[in-house]
Amino acid sequence: MLGEGKLKIAVLASGYGSNFQAIQDSSVLREIGVQIVCCVTNVPGAFVTERAKRAGVPVEVIDHKIYTNREAYDRELLARLDQYKPDLVCLAGFMRILSPVFLRAYSRRVINIHPSLLPAFPGIRIHEQVIDYGVRFTGCTVHFVDEGVDTGPIILQAVVRVDDDDTPEKLADRVHEEEYRIYPEAIRLFAQKRLVIDGRRVKILPPQNR
Ligand code: GRF
Repeated sequence: MLGEGKLKIAVLASGYGSNFQAIQDSSVLREIGVQIVCCVTNVPGAFVTERAKRAGVPVEVIDHKIYTNREAYDRELLARLDQYKPDLVCLAGFMRILSPVFLRAYSRRVINIHPSLLPAFPGIRIHEQVIDYGVRFTGCTVHFVDEGVDTGPIILQAVVRVDDDDTPEKLADRVHEEEYRIYPEAIRLFAQKRLVIDGRRVKILPPQNR
């Protein structure tokens, strides 16, 4: 039924995993039946694996250094995920570009969090670029993943003010706070089947009453 949210998600991450933690700790997601069924990393020893173990979430380590090309890596990724059959794949600081091989298998079922107001500042080393450019506002974006880099249809965004004395670290901390809010929120909307992709735009359907 629309409004019910039973959903299995896989979280793919390469580093610290604070977004993994925010999703795992979200009481709203727990209440509607969203469950992280596995955590995948391409970096052996990444702190996110520690977080996953503590939370009792199975970890799959797929070291990118072992694979000769992107497709081979992504085929292994597909095989590992197949054990868990996730409904949605959430990238959370996963420092790899996914190939069409992967994206076709999970078409419209891969989302990402990016630490800027896309389409401004795609790519990496975002907070440095934001400060160097001198913009007054930045933020974060949750978007569907397509075959470009940070180009897919936008689900949610949040705005963060840039202060004159900001350092990349200070700014990253404030952007992170917004990430922890909008990423679980976007997953909730997906779980409740309230996201409709219409070309570049994502329409958010109103909540359904029982
Ligand atoms: C976040 O800033 C996210 O927007 C970006 O990578 C960072 C991951 O942080 N894609 P964490 O590993 O979740 O702490």
